[in-house]
This record gives sequence, C-alpha cells and structure tokens, in this order.
Amino acid sequence: MVLVTGGAGYIGSHTCISLHEAGFDFVIFDNLCNSSQESLARVEKIIGKKIPFYRGDIRNKQDLQNVFDTHKIDSVIHFAGLKAVGESVEQPLHYYDNNVNGTLVLCQVMQEYNCKKIVFSSSATVYGDPHTTPIKEDFPLSATNPYGRTKLFIEEILRDLYICDNEWKIILLRYFNPVGAHKSGLIGEDPNGIPNNLMPFISQTAVQKREFLNIFGDDYDTHDGTGVRDYIHVVDLAQGHVKALHNIDKIQNVLSVNLGTGNGYSVLDMVRAFEKASNKKIPYKIAPRRTGDVAKCFADPSYAFEVLGWRAEKGIDEMCEDSWRWQSQNPNGYSRD
Ligand code: NAD
Ligand code: UFG
Repeated sequence: MVLVTGGAGYIGSHTCISLHEAGFDFVIFDNLCNSSQESLARVEKIIGKKIPFYRGDIRNKQDLQNVFDTHKIDSVIHFAGLKAVGESVEQPLHYYDNNVNGTLVLCQVMQEYNCKKIVFSSSATVYGDPHTTPIKEDFPLSATNPYGRTKLFIEEILRDLYICDNEWKIILLRYFNPVGAHKSGLIGEDPNGIPNNLMPFISQTAVQKREFLNIFGDDYDTHDGTGVRDYIHVVDLAQGHVKALHNIDKIQNVLSVNLGTGNGYSVLDMVRAFEKASNKKIPYKIAPRRTGDVAKCFADPSYAFEVLGWRAEKGIDEMCEDSWRWQSQNPNGYSRD
C-alpha cells in the first residue's frame, strides 16, 4: 500500500490516477488546506473506485499513526506542502513548520513503522539562479526564497537520513513547471485567489475571469525577451512517480532526478500556443520583471530516462488543450456554484 500525502492536490490527484492504472493500492492523506474533497470525488469518478482518505496534518504524529495502524504502508509519495513563493516570504515560519517540520514528523512515523521508501516532491527551484541551461542534477544547489529553502533543507535532511541508515530508499523528484490536466477535464489545477503561475493566469484570462495577462519582463536574454521555462504535462509528471516506485528497490544512495521535458518555452510562446488551443485571444501587457525570476530554467532530463526509464511524452499543444478543457469546463475550479 502506498501512502500519498497531499494526494488531494493538483499533482497528487493526477498521480493517484496513474497509480491506479499501474495497479498500485494507495491511501490519501491530506488536510485539504489547499485542495477540496471534490477533487477526491472526481478522481474516484475517473477510476471508478472508492479511495481510502484520511483528513489529517503531516505535523500531527497521531494523524499519521492512525493511517499506519490501519494499513500496511510500504512506501510514501510525499506531496504535502505549501508552495506559494510570495507567501513563503511573508510567512517563513509557517512554511518551515509545515514543510520541514511536517516532513520530519512523517519520517519519524515511517521509521517507527519500518517503512523506509519515500518519493519526495522537490523542485527545480533548488537550482536557484542556474549559471547555465539545460540544468543537470549535479548543478550547485541554492535557494532564493523560504519556499525554495524548505525544499533544499528537506533534501538535505533526507540525505542525512540515508547516511545514518542505508536501508532507506529515497528519490527526490525535481519538478520543472507542471501544467495541463487530465484528459477527462474533471480534475486540474485550482489555485486559490489570483494565480501566481503563468498557465492558470492565462487560462483564467481566456475565460475572462482576468482582464489581461501581465508579462513580467520582455528584456531577458532569451529568444524573444520573455522568461523561458520547462513546462511539463502533469500526467507525464504523474507517470514519473509510478516509474520512481517501480525502480525504488534497486536504487543505491539518494537519487535526485529532474522531471522536465528539456524544452524551454517563453511566456509569449505559451500565450500563442494557448490561443491556438482555445481559439481565444489572450490580451496581455508587458510589466516590470518579477523579483526573484530567472531568465531561463529548463532541464536536462536524460538522467530520468537513464535511471527510471521515464521521459515526458506530451508537447506544448497538448498541455494547452488539456489546461483549456479543464478551465472551460470548470471556470470556477472545484467550487460548487
Ligand atoms: P497543491 O497545493 O495542489 O497540493 C499539495 C497538497 O498538500 C494540498 O492538497 C494540501 O492540502 C496538502 N497539504 C499541505 N500541507 C499539508 C499538511 N501539513 N498536512 C497534510 N496535507 C497538507 O500543490 P501541487 O502543485 O500539487 O504540489 C505538490 C508538491 O509538489 C508540493 O510539495 C509542491 O511544493 C511540489 N512542487 C510543485 C510545483 C508546482 O509548480 N505545482 C513545482 C515543484 C514542486
Ligand atoms: N509569468 C508572467 N506573468 C504571470 C505569471 C508568470 O509573465 O502572471 C512568467 C514568469 O515571469 C516566468 C514564467 O511566466 O517567466 C513562469 O512563471 P511561473 O510563476 O508559472 O513559474 P516559475 O518558474 O516562476 O515558478 C515555478 C513554481 C515555483 C517553483 C519554480 C521552480 O511556481 O514554485 O517554478 O520550480 F519554485
């Protein structure tokens, strides 16, 4: 049985479907601080099966022990965490408590129950401002904000855990920029309030929830001056977790793996691709650069293929079509109108 912390969230919900398709049994643990029961109901609809769900907080030992007492958990996919960069600058203690302390408590409980396999949601943010692209796993690590530092600290904590006990099997998946949604249009990204990230902002502009997109800077050293990122379809990302579980028993040492496509697209490339997919015009204005943004961030994904046999399969058009289907069918996300 796989324990999926944060399984009601954006990436977690998609991963649950891939786990089901691959024949894994799993249980979801989430405090729903950034997700809803409705996403679980939709996942159940897609897979045609009830999913054991525990509402609880990873910082609460008893909440977790309750799950480990009820199910024989052999491995954990650990998505639960807070992820808003700006909020992390305003509330660093909250981020360190939720993400770092939460992971400590989770690992303590895992140790108590002799469950020593964990796949952790890390991020390309651990590369800070990379000196060159594409980014390889052995590039220097740094952080530019408290959110990024929680990822960096958790990676270090997990490395220390392995050093003290080599029975641990630990995979750190460093995601680039997840976008897109499940083909059904039933589940997708449902940000709270005004989206920080590009794709939900574009898709909300397309359904006229937002008047126009602000493009943060057009004077970067990139092919058209706007920021370049490695957008990856969330279903490809979900599949990366299945591959991680398939390979976790054979890994030596802590494995850090980039999950990206290796393609860098600019903000304007994304706007054009989304316009094509949705047949809607995306009005935009050029705005000043956003503090902390880097010019270019894209992966060298070859190590993921080498060690996990995984590579991304979906391109930019499919990412935009699937994001659009989700957004147009659910203009208000999961909230019931
Ligand atoms: P999300 O907010 O949709 O999902 C996270 C889930 O964790 C939510 O359902 C939330 O309710 C739950 N959660 C948070 N704190 C919890 C706690 N203390 N106890 C129990 N549950 C808790 O985010 P997502 O986009 O699905 O991201 C999943 C993971 O991937 C996060 O760790 C995030 O930092 C990481 N990540 C995301 C991105 C991205 O751009 N989406 C990029 C890199 C890494
Ligand atoms: N952008 C805009 N306008 C917007 C939003 C974004 O022009 O309204 C631009 C940004 O300047 C950047 C690109 O679109 O060039 C992508 O921005 P996102 O906010 O979607 O993604 P980031 O790469 O900045 O950040 C994401 C996650 C972070 C994570 C980081 C590295 O949001 O949590 O990837 O993994 F730390």
